[in-house]
Amino acid sequence: MKIGILISGRGSNMVALVDAVKSGEIPNSEIAVVISDKSDAPGLEKARERGVETIVIERKGRSREEHDTDIIAELQKRDVELVCLAGYMRLLSKGFIRSFDNHIVNIHPSLLPAFPGLDAQRQSIDYGVKISGCTVHFVDEGLDSGKIILQRAVEVRDNDTVETLSARILEQEHSAYIEAVRKLASQRANSA
Ligand code: GRF
Repeated sequence: MKIGILISGRGSNMVALVDAVKSGEIPNSEIAVVISDKSDAPGLEKARERGVETIVIERKGRSREEHDTDIIAELQKRDVELVCLAGYMRLLSKGFIRSFDNHIVNIHPSLLPAFPGLDAQRQSIDYGVKISGCTVHFVDEGLDSGKIILQRAVEVRDNDTVETLSARILEQEHSAYIEAVRKLASQRANSA
C-alpha cells in the first residue's frame, strides 16, 4: 500500500509510521512521500534523514481548494492509496476528501467524539475528565467526525498538566497509528 503523509510540524507520528514501514511492522507498504504545508516544519528533516521524499506545498494566500489541488496532484502522481494526516494543521477541502474517499485517516489526541478541534489535551484537563486518550479515524467533511478505526485510553492524573498528559497520550498515539495503518494495509492485501 502506497502511503502519503501530511504534516505541519514536529512529525513524531510521521516518524513512527515511517519507521514501522521500514521495520516491516507495517507490512506490504511504502511511504511514497511526506508533504508539509510549512517550509520550517521540523518533521521534514526527520523524513529526509530516513530517506523519504519530502515536498513543501505552502498555501501562499491561495484558496483551500487551489492549495489542495496541488497536494492532490503530488499524491496522485505517486499513486498514493492512503493519506495519513499526522499533525497536519489545515482542514481539507471537499475536493480533497472526495478524491481520496475513505482513504484519508487522522490521529487525534482525545477519545472522540469528545474534544474535537484544537488543544484537545487542554480541553480534557479543563473539563476534568479522568480518562482521555487518542483516536485514529477516517476523515470526512466534518471536524474530527469521521468513523473511528481505533482508540487508546489514557488515565488523566490529578496532577497532570497539558504537557504531562500530552506526552503520555503521544506515546499511545504512535503505537495506535501504527496498529491502525497495519490493519488497513492488511485489509487491502486481503482484498487484492
Ligand atoms: C498529535 O498530538 C496529533 O494527535 C495531533 O497533532 C499532534 C501532532 O504531533 N493531530 P506530531 O507532529 O505527530 O509529533
